[in-house]
Amino acid sequence: MTVCDFSSGRPDPATFPVGDLVAAASRRLTAEGPDLVLYPDPQGYPALRRLAVERFRQREGVDLDPDSFLLGTGSTQPLALLAEALTEPGDVVITEEFSYTGTLGILRRFGLTIEGVKIDEEGLCPEALDRALETLAMAGTPARFIYAIPTYQNPTGAILSLERRRAILELSRRHDVPLIEDNCYADLHFESEKPPASIRALPGADEVIYVASWSKILGPGARLGYVSAGPELLERLLDLKRDAGTSNLAAMIVAEYMEHHRESHTAVLCDVLRRKRDVLVAALGEELGDLCGWTVPLGGMFLWVRLPDEIDNAVLAKSAEQEGVLYHPGRNFHSGDRDIPYLRLAFGYPSDEEIVTGVRHLARAIRTAVPTVAGNA
Ligand SMILES: Cc1ncc(COP(=O)(O)O)c(C=O)c1O
Repeated sequence: MTVCDFSSGRPDPATFPVGDLVAAASRRLTAEGPDLVLYPDPQGYPALRRLAVERFRQREGVDLDPDSFLLGTGSTQPLALLAEALTEPGDVVITEEFSYTGTLGILRRFGLTIEGVKIDEEGLCPEALDRALETLAMAGTPARFIYAIPTYQNPTGAILSLERRRAILELSRRHDVPLIEDNCYADLHFESEKPPASIRALPGADEVIYVASWSKILGPGARLGYVSAGPELLERLLDLKRDAGTSNLAAMIVAEYMEHHRESHTAVLCDVLRRKRDVLVAALGEELGDLCGWTVPLGGMFLWVRLPDEIDNAVLAKSAEQEGVLYHPGRNFHSGDRDIPYLRLAFGYPSDEEIVTGVRHLARAIRTAVPTVAGNA
């Protein structure tokens, strides 16, 4: 029996806005329903692209062109299209050393070699990125792109500092390697101090490829995400996207809902996520403060737990399963698929009570998997 599901980055189900979505669907379908006999605009429902522009403008103070946007099935599809458009099998691409499992899976699926670059509490390290870009170019295998999650990084929760954002943009330009900024958590902050500007919003960032999603402020079930890119790349993406368009039915409902509720719903989500983060941090402190380490995330959906070096992850997986706790082991996020002493807890989905009970069960499982803990030797 599952006691607590810390596995995936999903919003809180209790605040999912069923009533408002039903009302939004009714309004928009009454007005535009017959248009659903048509195939969608190849770039996706224009009103939802305009909303993506508005979302960016409000947060970043910068206007992007709605015609630079392509909607997709979540942001997963745009990410897969980008990998296909920018690489050939056998090419090398750069990610943070720890990165989003889904993207790593796509890159591996396209036969790419992933070069993981060091990441610390301030995010991706520019010196290490510079060295990697230089070494790869010298070896005749230049990186085809850099993929980074600068804000509330998945899995670490790290926020890339403004100085590093500028440095990474400069490196991408100097080495002439495209930069993909995946910014799907940027609206989920818990503190009054907001994260630094999106890299795409910095001066000289017109070439930065911007990816985001509606999954994290509504729900992954909507399957709506997007990419904004320059005209040439956009053409290639459109050419590869052979699905006859992203669902206008879903896009209509989400657009109508987001036009009226985006800010208020995001504010509710942030409050709920902040509370759950606090519950999680308190429970971890109580149960595992002597054994594990973590940095308290200032936004997003994840807490990255450092386990004791001597942990046996296979034993942990087994005992966590018996304890009914679901989570993702560190290995799933390691660019080189290495077994590492970390695990990721996604705290958006479980209730406060489940978090408290889940941490108690997880702590039991972790103690079972550390040989030096009294009684295990
Ligand atoms: C960093 C990052 N990018 C992209 C995605 C994909 O989300 P979706 O396809 O639902 O937009 C996720 C989902 O967890 C993610 O964490």
